[in-house]
Amino acid sequence: MNRTVEMIIDGKPIELPTVVGSEGEVGVDISSLRNKTGCITLDPGYGNTGACESAITFIDGETGILRYRGYDIAELAEKSTFIETAYLLIYGNLPTRPQLVEFSDVLTENQMLHEGMRFHFENFPPSAHPMAILSAMINAASSYHPNLITKREECFPFHAARLISQVRTIAAFSYRKAQGLPTIYPKSSLKYTANFLHMMFSPHPGEDCELKPEIVKALDLIFLLHADHEQNCSTSTVRMVASSRANLFASASAGVCALWGPLHGGANQAVLEMLEEIHQDGDDGTKFLNQVKNKSTHRRLMGFGHRVYKNFDPRAVILKQQCDKVLSQLHKSDPLLDIAKKLEDVALHDDYFISRKLYPNVDFYSGIIMRAIGIPLDMFTVMFAIGRMPGWIANYKEVMADSDSRIARPRQIYTGATQRAYTPLEARS
Ligand code: ACO
Repeated sequence: MNRTVEMIIDGKPIELPTVVGSEGEVGVDISSLRNKTGCITLDPGYGNTGACESAITFIDGETGILRYRGYDIAELAEKSTFIETAYLLIYGNLPTRPQLVEFSDVLTENQMLHEGMRFHFENFPPSAHPMAILSAMINAASSYHPNLITKREECFPFHAARLISQVRTIAAFSYRKAQGLPTIYPKSSLKYTANFLHMMFSPHPGEDCELKPEIVKALDLIFLLHADHEQNCSTSTVRMVASSRANLFASASAGVCALWGPLHGGANQAVLEMLEEIHQDGDDGTKFLNQVKNKSTHRRLMGFGHRVYKNFDPRAVILKQQCDKVLSQLHKSDPLLDIAKKLEDVALHDDYFISRKLYPNVDFYSGIIMRAIGIPLDMFTVMFAIGRMPGWIANYKEVMADSDSRIARPRQIYTGATQRAYTPLEARS
């Protein structure tokens, strides 16, 4: 039987039910609190607030567990692919062979953008950040598909596949546009990640780039490791927008904007910028870490710390190994990797980081791999967005399928001026 929790407010006890998840997590259901007492809960940053019940991803931040639909992330990283994992996240189970073939076929059929979309690209300045282009273009794409709204349920599988497929095409087109390079169209014979690399790096239409299997595999792994992460900032944004019954593309576009910030998906770019700065400074990381620990500098060790993981981020462990592997396969060395390893080593033995439970997160090593692959710095967060798309779609689907879902509308504790009379302009000092 579920426990209840008793709260005493102004001397009056009230009983609140609890909800217990399949992994034993307990949530106190406070949805009746305001009606019963007039009080609300206050939790800036939502560190203690469960905004929904979800069956997609499980994280135990204390022990470093991450599972998509019950499958451990390390096992998926070893045995699955990004596209199979995308299906798993969205539809709840690993696909059978025919289901996977059908899913891949729909992705291929939807890989081309509407030709009219090409003109939208023309109007961005060359300096536009690819994340700005990505969010704008995903939203623009929604205007080409009115049945996103009129036939939302019926057409969901097509729109989900279209979004996963086209986010990659939009990302590659925006890179080519920023570089002043001719657009490379997708190639139906290539699988998802190889096709993306083809659109990014083929020198000219008709002249294909070499697709090294180890590079394709490394990028596919990066996409897979980013595919979902329960109620993070961007996914919560997608769910919040979806709660107003906005369409899938509009909700995903909002997710891209939330992801862009340096405290979230933008951290992978910020990590590389930080490592480059340390390198150019001739520092081995010691000076930089002292600045971080001196809080008055307001500097952070980017790629470290996580709201949920307080032990280690299992994705960072996989990526650290992958980083060494990719650099050795490509016969490359990178002084930034040496600095990253030094920073990690020192931080993991330093009381500042130990006492605050700060460990490397997914962004700490992903940037070094992307740099080795040849992905430009300002495209790093775009790679994250491509990877996260299945998770956003799965969460959107969950919101839409929940008949009890209400518009997300938090409250506040007002701390501004109390009522005052309007002062005419001439009487103001
Ligand atoms: N470097 C130095 N100090 C840090 C760092 C860091 N990277 N992260 C947290 N701290 C310190 C804070 O200053 C604070 O110290 P205090 O208790 O003395 O005030 C304490 O650790 C707790 O930090 P909060 O900011 O309260 O932790 P929160 O859970 O709100 O933030 C976050 C988590 C945003 C990830 C934070 O750790 C951070 O800014 N990290 C760097 C950016 C980054 O890597 N983001 C990617 C996260 S993963 C992702 O989104 C994919």
